[in-house]
Amino acid sequence: MKLNTLVITTILTSLVSAAAFSQAKLSTNIPHLEKRGTATQLIVDGKPFLVIGAELNNSSASSVEYMQPLWPKIAATNLNTVLATVSWELTEPEEGRFDFNLVDSLIQGARRQNLHLILLWFGSWKNGKSTYQPVWVKTNQQRFPIIQDEKGKGLPTLSTLSDANRDADARAFAALMRHIRAADGEAHTVIMIQVENEVGVLGPSRDHSPLANQAFAGPVPKEFMNYLQMHKDTLIPELRKRWESAGFKTSGSWEEVFGAGMATDELFMAWNYARYVGHVAAAGKAEYPLPMFVNAWLRQGPDKPNEDKPGGYPSGGPLAQVMDAWRAGGPAIDILSPDVHVPNYADWCTWYTQSGNPLFIPESRGDARGVAQAIATAGKYDGIGYSPFGIDRLANPDGELAKGYQVLAQVAPLILERQGLGKMTAVLVDKETPRSKVRLGDYTIEARFAARAQDPNAPVAPPVDRVASLFIQLGPDDYVIVGRSMGVYFETAADPTQSVGLAVVEEGQYVDGRWVPGRRLNGDETPEWKALWFQGDRYTIQKIKLYRYH
Ligand code: DGJ
Repeated sequence: MKLNTLVITTILTSLVSAAAFSQAKLSTNIPHLEKRGTATQLIVDGKPFLVIGAELNNSSASSVEYMQPLWPKIAATNLNTVLATVSWELTEPEEGRFDFNLVDSLIQGARRQNLHLILLWFGSWKNGKSTYQPVWVKTNQQRFPIIQDEKGKGLPTLSTLSDANRDADARAFAALMRHIRAADGEAHTVIMIQVENEVGVLGPSRDHSPLANQAFAGPVPKEFMNYLQMHKDTLIPELRKRWESAGFKTSGSWEEVFGAGMATDELFMAWNYARYVGHVAAAGKAEYPLPMFVNAWLRQGPDKPNEDKPGGYPSGGPLAQVMDAWRAGGPAIDILSPDVHVPNYADWCTWYTQSGNPLFIPESRGDARGVAQAIATAGKYDGIGYSPFGIDRLANPDGELAKGYQVLAQVAPLILERQGLGKMTAVLVDKETPRSKVRLGDYTIEARFAARAQDPNAPVAPPVDRVASLFIQLGPDDYVIVGRSMGVYFETAADPTQSVGLAVVEEGQYVDGRWVPGRRLNGDETPEWKALWFQGDRYTIQKIKLYRYH
């Protein structure tokens, strides 16, 4: 080898290994998901992280001026994370010309307040429609086709079956992720990404364009059939039943394999959305592999029949009943998330923790009920976090959200240490279900909802209609309990001949992870000398030691 060839080879080798080294350094450190016992946690800078978040209104992040006065108000509401829109139209106003000024200003704004960001990629779809794609995409339907209804009428929704649509979106998303890596690959202000927003077909239960009709009449793709066969025993029950009723066929058209009807239309759309969104997510991850999730507009329940069927809600979105199609079609997507704007919160948490899906709630309520839901998400369902919609309106240092989040933030380290290990749980109680019993360690713990304080000396609290109680086990007889508007009672689970007494009850706070006791509670504050009372206008924390007697 000539000397100059050797020199060039050596330089190239060291450049390549320097790049590989920095890549390795970056990739071990970047926010990622990690399994812990039965839970999946979000790891940020090497530590589990609980998202105590809220989402901005859709258009807020499009203006630096609008955001400026809002940032300090958001921080004063005791959040640690803001969910903010990044739109394709403002990111790529002309094809191939990217503008990341708004993304940079979001990152700067969040960093100044010590907040993290979850960016929401409003690309091809938002709430079942296509309104955030750039004008050069919107106005060129020849190149970027839209879906059609049964009568062949075009709908304002990009087709899932077009490679041109998919590739244009994926190119822009990849450019965004490349930019986030360059701007934030060390600091990790941005911790997760939502890919698209509430996708699915609104109106008909599936796309009826000629391309879609052809795919629907054609065979169910091999990849999906293989997935179904490999996961036959763990499929979501609705899907398994449908496949079983049609004879567990291993090939055939969509209607042959799953039977005719709206549910099959929905499954077909779910597969096609998952393929497209999964491809976009994979293109982004190839640049910077942050955890990625998709969110679902949910079916609305039997009281609203028109919004409870595919097409009444976006058909093919990542709903629980079609989870398997999303898992099979979009493996680059880490989490399927429900936007819970319906009352039966606990049901949705149960449905969205099927098949090991980690629970993250990107949209829900931010009132007193919302705080209760945030506590239950983290403490009962081992969730990654919670985010009510509309922090523009909810930001208020004295509001329900700020008061609840302040307490949740105090106990977050205890929660994160115990997720997935069976040493913590939570209950939701309300007027309809005022009592709830759970077992934790050697005790059965019962929360009893008390809309009004029972102690006439207690401060008068505004009425709340649903509250949470969080039970954290510190040792065999030691617990931390978080509650509001309730009494908490104990029995032994191990030996029914024994009674349970309160040895020590302290109320207090965790300051930088250290317990700082306040009042020692006894007498009227522990009714009948055997229960805890949580009264007043906010969640409080009690640290207790129990004992047993015959
Ligand atoms: C659900 C959507 O995902 C959000 O972007 C927003 O439009 C809310 N609905 C409004 O309530």
